[in-house]
Amino acid sequence: MTIVGQRATEATAELPANFLWGVATSAYQIEGAVAEDGRTPSIWDTFCRVPGAVIRQENGDVACDHYHRMPQDVELIAGLGVDSYRFSISWPRVQPGGRGPVNVKGLDFYSRLVDELLEKGIKPWVTLYHWDLPQELEDAGGWPERDTAYRFAEYASLVHAGLGDRVKTWTTLNEPWCSAMLGYDQGKHAPGIQNFSASMRAVHHLLLGHGLAGQALRAAAAEPIELGITLNMGTASPASDRPEDVDAARRADGLGTRIYLDPLVKGQYPEDVVADIEARGALLPVEPGDLEIISTPIDVLGVNYYSSHVFEGGEEPHEPVAVSQNRPVTAMDWEIVPEGFTQLLVRISKDYPGLPMVITENGAAFDDVADADGQVDDEDRLSYISEHIAAVGSAVAQGADVRGYFAWSLMDNFEWAYGYDKRFGIVRVDYDTQVRTLKRSAEWYRDTIAGTREK
Ligand code: NOJ
Repeated sequence: MTIVGQRATEATAELPANFLWGVATSAYQIEGAVAEDGRTPSIWDTFCRVPGAVIRQENGDVACDHYHRMPQDVELIAGLGVDSYRFSISWPRVQPGGRGPVNVKGLDFYSRLVDELLEKGIKPWVTLYHWDLPQELEDAGGWPERDTAYRFAEYASLVHAGLGDRVKTWTTLNEPWCSAMLGYDQGKHAPGIQNFSASMRAVHHLLLGHGLAGQALRAAAAEPIELGITLNMGTASPASDRPEDVDAARRADGLGTRIYLDPLVKGQYPEDVVADIEARGALLPVEPGDLEIISTPIDVLGVNYYSSHVFEGGEEPHEPVAVSQNRPVTAMDWEIVPEGFTQLLVRISKDYPGLPMVITENGAAFDDVADADGQVDDEDRLSYISEHIAAVGSAVAQGADVRGYFAWSLMDNFEWAYGYDKRFGIVRVDYDTQVRTLKRSAEWYRDTIAGTREK
């Protein structure tokens, strides 16, 4: 048995037989065609034009040109032998401006994508919101504004009306932490605002939007759907048992994880987190009935995992400081902590029992070196992915209910504020020619999936 084969067997040994394998992307990161067929700008189109916001001031105008290459890209996905493809729908393509009737041409693109996938036996896993808010809705206040939650539910209904006969799995939001904190508190993502109060209003309205959209989808569906939300999470441990370090870890976990999972699963915000927020003069604008809506039962929790962190208390108690563990890092400078993945999944299954999980993203950027034919021998990415799949297996062996794994990403794409600098794909994209080439990690992933079917 080759080393690759051995690693595959070890990585997948603990996973259940009907485990779902997939690859993931998102609309703005791959589609391009930002002004075609009636699409209007999203907050990312605007943000990319702000000097200094994105490396080299790059943007998603062309990206991987997926909008024009979709059938070939589905062939590529099929060639990997995956069960499912996770993609997102561009809100301003389907409902320009975020209000009013559906844009038939925009929705038709996704309808054709779904048909291509189903024809090849690949299950479509739809994410409704992967960060591309219609600019007009941002101009009206964006996520800090309550009305955006209602607009989101309306958009969800429009998409469901067009695709619901064929799509059964719906993720409302991708990583609301990033939308709220990177978008409205740190200003590193669109819309580039730095205002803690606004970010807390965004948290609540994102969650409300999730609940309203979930209810709308369930009400519209003729048959049961699989409803979920995807959160980015990692472990947050204290650097020592000094009280300030323990408190820093509690705060990081509070604003990173519990502020989402508690209302979603338990129907209430964690009291310590609410107290921290109020101490900073901000609040979560909860109205009567909101928490019932937010805790509309979900069928699956999407987990995006990249790294875990150790925290110590900072000068400002509300600013936990992540301290280096001197671990190897990826090209994002993110420490590689596979055992944190296991710990996270086991912890969620204990603290929030009865919630099936699917890994909706995991993967790594490395500085790939391509030879003249575009071949990339990405041992670093292959190791990262195999170690993390094994970490999922360890969590399953310890009782965590994890039902699937999506590699991030199908192909190199627009990595937000990092532009095209960081490559997460298991497939290489040559941005000059748009040629796609399987990296060694993609071949390994394909063969690993095939191997699990022989079991
Ligand atoms: C999470 C996001 O959902 C995705 O869009 C991004 O590219 C990856 N993390 C890597 O940063």
